[in-house]
Amino acid sequence: MPPSLEQIPGWFWPADQRLFDWFLSDERPGDLLELGVYMGKSAVLIGRHLRRGERFTVCDLFESDAPDAANDAETSRSYSTLTRRRFEENYLAFHDALPDVVHGPTSEILAHVKPDSCRFVHVDASHLYAHVREDVLSARTVLGEDGVVVFDDYRSEHTPGVSLAVWEAVANLGLAPICVSTQKLYATWGDAAGYQARLLAWLSTAEDMWHTVDELDARPLVRVNVRKKKAASDVAELRKVAAELKRTSAELKKTAADLRAGGPVVRRALRWTRRIVGRS
Ligand SMILES: C[S@@+](CC[C@H](N)C(=O)[O-])C[C@H]1O[C@@H](n2cnc3c(N)ncnc32)[C@H](O)[C@@H]1O
Repeated sequence: MPPSLEQIPGWFWPADQRLFDWFLSDERPGDLLELGVYMGKSAVLIGRHLRRGERFTVCDLFESDAPDAANDAETSRSYSTLTRRRFEENYLAFHDALPDVVHGPTSEILAHVKPDSCRFVHVDASHLYAHVREDVLSARTVLGEDGVVVFDDYRSEHTPGVSLAVWEAVANLGLAPICVSTQKLYATWGDAAGYQARLLAWLSTAEDMWHTVDELDARPLVRVNVRKKKAASDVAELRKVAAELKRTSAELKKTAADLRAGGPVVRRALRWTRRIVGRS
């Protein structure tokens, strides 16, 4: 049986898998970049969209030391079992060749990826403000016209540095949000309205997805998620409970009728009482 993405540990949920597939299917050519790969869950999916003549670069510290103490604390806390070897083994279970691997901090990425070369960048490395702010600037440098950048953890309570760096880019650096999921924000320095129109057209046909259009300072912002599937076993269980309730309710009605004045239970009790009184 072919391996499944779900077997790779990581934090890459179905709504974002669907959105990545959609954004990466865009026809315009360009390279792909991921900052922060962990075990390769999102990298494997991105790699499926690599086309002839394009380059896919990934960057991660893997088991190496982080550039500062705060970054070291977050990596040793959350990614202690990560090695470059584990990432590569996972990736090669799905693809014939590895992407170009930059083994080091994301601050070095501009030495490996050319300006204006990328159509898609996923920023998912350090969650600290100073690092993410630098990743924002690197993404802006390497993205070509209408390129898309995706930021992970833009709204989690444990990653305020990501939120600050991302919304700062929106407020001050001309970054235009296209859509958000629960975990990720999708944006561009290009034509966000064009992406939104195409995205809404696709979403209107995607039966497994729901969306709303919210407002962000007079600009639309699409919010997307997958519809929750009711597990078949849940539905069967609910049917069983409903049938049980129907039976109980019928029995209660019968008991209430029996107990009514003049009903069979009351009549029987009267007969017995008269018999006992007659004997004494
Ligand atoms: C949240 S994980 C990435 C998850 C992955 N994109 C996925 O969806 O499965 C963050 C990764 O960033 C790496 N990382 C943390 N700080 C980094 C830095 N300063 N430079 C490069 N990589 C870093 C960690 O080693 C870890 O593998």
